[in-house]
Amino acid sequence: MSIFNVGLKKVVDDSYEIEIGYELERKLIDDLRAGLVGTIKKFVVVTDSIVKELYADRIYDLLLQNDYQSDIIVFPAGEKSKTRQTKEFIEDAMLEKGYRRDCCIIAVGGGVVTDIAGFVAGTFGRGIPFINYATTLLAAADASIGGKTAVDTPLATNLIGLFHQPKKVYIDISTWKTLEKRQISSGLAETIKHACISSREFFDYLLANMDAIFEINDEICQNIAQENCKVKYQVVTKDERESGLREILNLGHTVGRAIETVSEYQLLHGEALAIGLVAEVKLSKKLGYCTDEDEALLIKILDRANLPVAIPSYIDREALIKKLYTDKKVKNGELRFVLQNGIGDVMVFDGDQYAKTIPENMAREIIMSM
Ligand SMILES: NC(=O)c1ccc[n+]([C@@H]2O[C@H](COP(=O)([O-])OP(=O)(O)OC[C@H]3O[C@@H](n4cnc5c(N)ncnc54)[C@H](O)[C@@H]3O)[C@@H](O)[C@H]2O)c1
Repeated sequence: MSIFNVGLKKVVDDSYEIEIGYELERKLIDDLRAGLVGTIKKFVVVTDSIVKELYADRIYDLLLQNDYQSDIIVFPAGEKSKTRQTKEFIEDAMLEKGYRRDCCIIAVGGGVVTDIAGFVAGTFGRGIPFINYATTLLAAADASIGGKTAVDTPLATNLIGLFHQPKKVYIDISTWKTLEKRQISSGLAETIKHACISSREFFDYLLANMDAIFEINDEICQNIAQENCKVKYQVVTKDERESGLREILNLGHTVGRAIETVSEYQLLHGEALAIGLVAEVKLSKKLGYCTDEDEALLIKILDRANLPVAIPSYIDREALIKKLYTDKKVKNGELRFVLQNGIGDVMVFDGDQYAKTIPENMAREIIMSM
């Protein structure tokens, strides 16, 4: 018998920059010329059918004008495209166009594009670099940062994916001007979640500036983008792979993700999250961690952001309860929830646990009351 010890301890530096600004397309090209991804000269722009004409074509044109080899791969806009089939479609298109390991993906779009393009990049040729050019408030607030990539399956959202960090993230605030109001609201849900877990001051700032946010006021939107990055950065740098602290970013997502799937994506991610935030503040209140005032404040800010605060009547409550068990925080078959400690803080259990086991009948009671 022989035993070989395959010593593979590694020190990996996956650090990257997030640049927040306006019309950053040229900056992206300047960065590539300056060696952002080394000597790579081939770039696949991955985007959706709406963002293509709005922003991705311009990046693609600039790449060609700067003598890079480039192709643009487009899939239909919307959550329903975030599937293994779309991933396969992108991979096959890349292979057919002759791309191998010496290329880089540039994801131009919202969270659906950055999630799926990042996942393709993580597995294509066993891993190639990718860059995120975020064009929604939701992608800027959350999806484009942190290295979590995934696709949905019929059972639930984001079940298949991997951690793969981008080489750089561009947050182009000027792109928010073409977003539908409903999409701004959806992005605001993740922003409100960040305030709920980290800062009452940020929460009050959002509440006070809601009109200006919808008008895409430059200064306010830049502040929001920065604050979102700060919250996410502080959590992700401490716990990249969600083994502890990163679970707090799941506030509202236990119920939110389940409703998103049960609604068959009639509810946008942020809309489903808003309902999930209300469910979890109610649960926190029941357990004595939040007050009536906290609940009223949360409902007020969600209302101001044009987000739903109740479970729509067409949602089958029993199906929703069953769907809660697809949540990745479930341990030993038991539901676990992240809970708020008032507005701006989360509960920590047993010194280092950021989610608490909740009996199904308690979760059921909350859901039935909404
Ligand atoms: N990876 C993560 O850590 C993470 C975190 C949060 C959310 N997510 C994922 O993000 C996704 C939701 O992100 P999203 O809301 O950005 O979805 P999205 O990418 O579907 O974008 C929303 C809609 O806006 C359109 N759009 C994008 N940019 C636009 C612009 N500038 N102007 C006009 N229209 C534009 C898109 O075509 C789409 O129709 C979900 O799949 C969710 O699971 C991932």
